[in-house]
Amino acid sequence: MLRYALGFFMICSTLSADKYTAKDYTRLVGMQGFSDQLLQMHFKLYEGYVKNSNDLLAKLESLSSSGGASSYEYGALKRRLRWEFDGMRLHELYFDNLGGSGVINQKSTLFAALTLQFGSFEKWKSDFIATGLVRGIGWAILYYDPEQRRLVNCWINEHDVGHLATGRPILIMDVFEHAYMPQYGLDRAQYITSFFANINWDVVASRYATVNESKKP
Ligand SMILES: [Fe+2]
Repeated sequence: MLRYALGFFMICSTLSADKYTAKDYTRLVGMQGFSDQLLQMHFKLYEGYVKNSNDLLAKLESLSSSGGASSYEYGALKRRLRWEFDGMRLHELYFDNLGGSGVINQKSTLFAALTLQFGSFEKWKSDFIATGLVRGIGWAILYYDPEQRRLVNCWINEHDVGHLATGRPILIMDVFEHAYMPQYGLDRAQYITSFFANINWDVVASRYATVNESKKP
């Protein structure tokens, strides 16, 4: 028991000291339909989320260790952390599922699952696009619900609000204004067309295979 407690303490200590590092997505520069200026600005914004996540965690740790855990500031920063952290992670998922050919492998288990659940791949795609066109700023996310083994297209308004509990993100599309307006203005539909033309379906199918596999008895 003591060994377990010591191990847990060591893990927590290690985790609290680790800083997040912004990933390098310059490989995406040159993608058809995404100007260099748009991508560079988006990378910069993403790096801000990484920096702020690190800053907030350090500040929270400092407040906690100096007896400030019951302060208003601590509570406000705790709430803020979800925004910055989710902003960081969602952008990583978004950039990671870009840079591909835009063509899904029709022999993949993901293609079979989308076809089975939505009637056809095209019907799923239409629903995902409709989700991405919901008025407002946010994210369109294809989730996998491991309990029911179901794929669900969701609209997420803010980084830190409204995610499906236990849902696993499979495909992520950023539809905040900064993701397309500098290049496409109000034409979000054209941006979505460009997004689809560059999806890395190998990454997306691999995410699905991992979560689908883990649920099997
Ligand atoms: Fe973004």
